Amino acid sequence: LSYGGKDYTLAVVEGTENEKAVDISKLRADSGLITIDPGFKNTGSTKSAITFLDGEEGILRYRGYSIEDLAEKSTFLEVSYLLIYGELPTSDELEIFQKKITTHTLVHEDIKTILDGFPSNAHPMGVLSSLVCSLTAFYPGALDPNRSAEAVDLSIIRILAKMPTFAAWAYKNQVGHPVNYPDNELDYCSNFLKMMFALPAERYKANPVVARALDQLLILHADHEQNCSTSTVRIVGSSQASLYASISAGINALWGPLHGGANQAVLEMLEEIQEAGGDTAKFIDKAKDKNDPFRLMGFGHRVYKNFDPRAKIIKKAADDVLEQLGVDDPLLDIAKQLEEIALSDPYFVEKKLYPNVDFYSGIIYRAMGIPTEMFTVMFAIGRLPGWIAQWKEMRENNEPIGRPRQVYTGYNHRPYVES
Ligand code: MLT
Repeated sequence: LSYGGKDYTLAVVEGTENEKAVDISKLRADSGLITIDPGFKNTGSTKSAITFLDGEEGILRYRGYSIEDLAEKSTFLEVSYLLIYGELPTSDELEIFQKKITTHTLVHEDIKTILDGFPSNAHPMGVLSSLVCSLTAFYPGALDPNRSAEAVDLSIIRILAKMPTFAAWAYKNQVGHPVNYPDNELDYCSNFLKMMFALPAERYKANPVVARALDQLLILHADHEQNCSTSTVRIVGSSQASLYASISAGINALWGPLHGGANQAVLEMLEEIQEAGGDTAKFIDKAKDKNDPFRLMGFGHRVYKNFDPRAKIIKKAADDVLEQLGVDDPLLDIAKQLEEIALSDPYFVEKKLYPNVDFYSGIIYRAMGIPTEMFTVMFAIGRLPGWIAQWKEMRENNEPIGRPRQVYTGYNHRPYVES
């Protein structure tokens, strides 16, 4: 391949995911070669010190800390701090961080006017991405690529603080209810739940199980290295677009059913099985049908080849939340049966098709009273600190503007023949 007066060798590596990974890492070491992994649209070349995942071993770590430890021992705000600033906060740092967040939960009242302009059937993700993007208009200083580190930090705090307010308001718009304003006496998740459902604050203080389960769900979704929405945030941010515009772009990427819609698809599948009489064994058989297979949603993962470490944690959270809330959801039983049958069936074991993080999360949200159309919004709240951390890292590393490589597959030069 000749480009810019130089000759390059273009290596396209075919093969299984494993072979590809090995070959590409060898090729990468040789700077004369261009590697292409169409599945990842060249994000394989992104260097990042934030999240490590090993799909073969089922390992996920944020800044070196295992997801299991973080989900058990930390809060979502501690994990947000870790992802964004690189270290777990000391208790003083956490207190300051929390104080800063609560100072910025309110949004400009004119944003409510924007909200009022949306039809009530507007999808909450469209409302969320618009409101987030509108912050650039309310805080135009965020457009200045040369602003101070303090000013950048203020944008980060603002978006973290206002995200639950926007998310709850996007829901309120859909149900036609008046919005609820933030209650800064409450923790991050309890405040969000109160803005969603407007139960008295005492309810959230007295029963922290739901808020804690939500906190855990957000931790599990907080980052997942380079994926569709995260690389979108990085590439939009690489043009020095504002943080708000970059995050809004990430929300739009996540909105697509292939990325953020998986837990909704799982829930719909469980409902379909329930409506058909709940015979899980029959559906497992149908999933193995070569000619017309039934698509078992929430099984397997593009990255995790053995098991998704997040799934185990979420399964326990589902049990706890449903028990605490006294919810007896037949969909949970169907999900458990599917998992049990599949995991003892050689077909699934050989193919390493294990339930992933999306398999149980919809059931938990449903038990909390969060409607299906809000599931992707919940994912966006969780993924926010990861997006911010990736945007900040890209900026601090002075990365050049993103420009995915293209392999041209069209015509060679064609002489123009006048007819
Ligand atoms: C995620 O958590 O972002 C999803 O599993 C998608 C992915 O990692 O590709």
